[in-house]
Amino acid sequence: MTTTTTLAEVAALSLTAVRTLERHGLDYCCGGKQPFDEACLAKGLKPEAVLQEIEQAPGTGAPERNWQTAPLGELTKYIVATHHEYLKLELPVLGKRLEKVHAVHGARDPEALSRMVEVFGALRDEMDLHMHKEEAILFPFIERYGLAEAQGRPIPPVPFGSIAHPIAMMEREHVSAGDALSQLRVLTHDYQLPPYACDTVRALYKGLEALEADLHVHIHLENNILFPRAIALETR
Ligand SMILES: [Fe+2]
Ligand SMILES: [Fe+2]
Repeated sequence: MTTTTTLAEVAALSLTAVRTLERHGLDYCCGGKQPFDEACLAKGLKPEAVLQEIEQAPGTGAPERNWQTAPLGELTKYIVATHHEYLKLELPVLGKRLEKVHAVHGARDPEALSRMVEVFGALRDEMDLHMHKEEAILFPFIERYGLAEAQGRPIPPVPFGSIAHPIAMMEREHVSAGDALSQLRVLTHDYQLPPYACDTVRALYKGLEALEADLHVHIHLENNILFPRAIALETR
């Protein structure tokens, strides 16, 4: 740890680190390039205290996979099986739940609920296309890079000049997804249930908050681990 250690580097230590940063609202995923110390101080937190919390957090029992050294193809498959599958299941369910809440309670808070429908709809459409681009184009090239490295062969050429190009596009889309999540957080007052909350509103808020946490870890694995590793192979 130095004064230039970034939030992304701290997050890459372990899933426990990710959870601790998440709990403190430290943006390790799209804002991962910020120095860790500065980000803590800006939130009124002591950097040493946050690090201590990470070190002392109880583990989940199962040893964590080290994604910095695992084969790249294993990481892409893990991201698809865990995080893409989650979105493919959850986005339609949450969309329906939100439509129901809008139909039943729309009159209570017309502005915020209409805006939520808009923001969520745009996020869902963008993520559907985004995951397709990763699964059909970018990840297979990254897997080929990993394989070439493991077999001691030169990195194969890519049709888009450099792998950094599609990666930059994916990172821009991650920023846009991160913005949508922040907007949903503002619109729901940090997921505090409104007085009219019925079971559907409760389930919606719970689901959106879980979606946020999952998408943060997902973007972190791509932005902070998968993408830098692929770029490093190309430029070594
Ligand atoms: Fe992804
Ligand atoms: Fe992504």
